[in-house]
Amino acid sequence: MIKIAPSILAADFADLGSAIRAAEAAGADYIHVDVMDGHFVPNISVGPPVVAAIRRVARCPLDVHLMIEAPERYLADFARAGADILTVHVETCPHLHRTIQQIRELGVSPGVTLNPATSLETVREILPYVDQVLIMTVNPGFGGQNYIPSMRDKIVRLAAMIAETGQNVAIEVDGGIDAATTPEVVAAGARVLVAGTAVFGHPHGVAGGIAALRAAAGIVR
Ligand code: DX5
Ligand code: ZN
Repeated sequence: MIKIAPSILAADFADLGSAIRAAEAAGADYIHVDVMDGHFVPNISVGPPVVAAIRRVARCPLDVHLMIEAPERYLADFARAGADILTVHVETCPHLHRTIQQIRELGVSPGVTLNPATSLETVREILPYVDQVLIMTVNPGFGGQNYIPSMRDKIVRLAAMIAETGQNVAIEVDGGIDAATTPEVVAAGARVLVAGTAVFGHPHGVAGGIAALRAAAGIVR
C-alpha cells in the first residue's frame, strides 16, 4: 500500500492546525515533520514543542525527519513530544546501530535516511533494525527543490537490497515529489511519498494536491 506523507514545511506555520486537519481529511497517512538545525543543513525549522503541538491536533502518525547533528541527544524529547517514526541521517550518526536501538527502546519506529550522494552501502548493515529507509530525492534543507532523476536507480537498488534481506522495510522518498515524479518513484519501489509543495502549494488546495498524488500513485480506496 502506498502512503502519502504531507510535509508541513510547506504549510502556513501560523495555522498548522488547519493545515493538518485539511491534510488528514484529504487522506494523508502520515504527517511529515522536518526538523532542521542550521548545522547539518543550512536551514532552521522546528523542534520538540512544535511536534507536541502537532500531536495535539493530528490523528495520524507523525513521521519526524531529523536533519540535525548528533540526533541521539534529542531522541527522548521527540519521543515524548509524540513522534511515531524517527528518521536519522547516516551522515550524522557514527554509531548508527546504537542510535537506531535507542529509537526502538523509546517505543518509536526507527527510520534511516541518506543524502543523494551517500552510498546505499552505508545502510546495508542497518536494514535488519529499521522499519523504513528514506531516500532523499533532493539535498535536504529546503522545500520546493527539483527531484534528482538519478535517484530512481537508487530506489531500485535499495528495493533489491531489501528483498535480499527478506526484511519488511518500507522505502520512503522525500523531495520534489509531485504528480509528475510520483509514477516513476512508485514503479521503482517507493511506498511512502513525502510531499510539501505538491500538497500545501497546490493550486486547488490541500485536497486537490493529495488527490493528484493519489491518482498519480494509482491509489484506489
Ligand atoms: C527537505 C525536506 C522535505 C521537504 C520536501 O529537506 O526533507 O521534507 O519539505 O519539500 P518538497 O515536497 O516541496 O520538495
Ligand atoms: Zn523531510
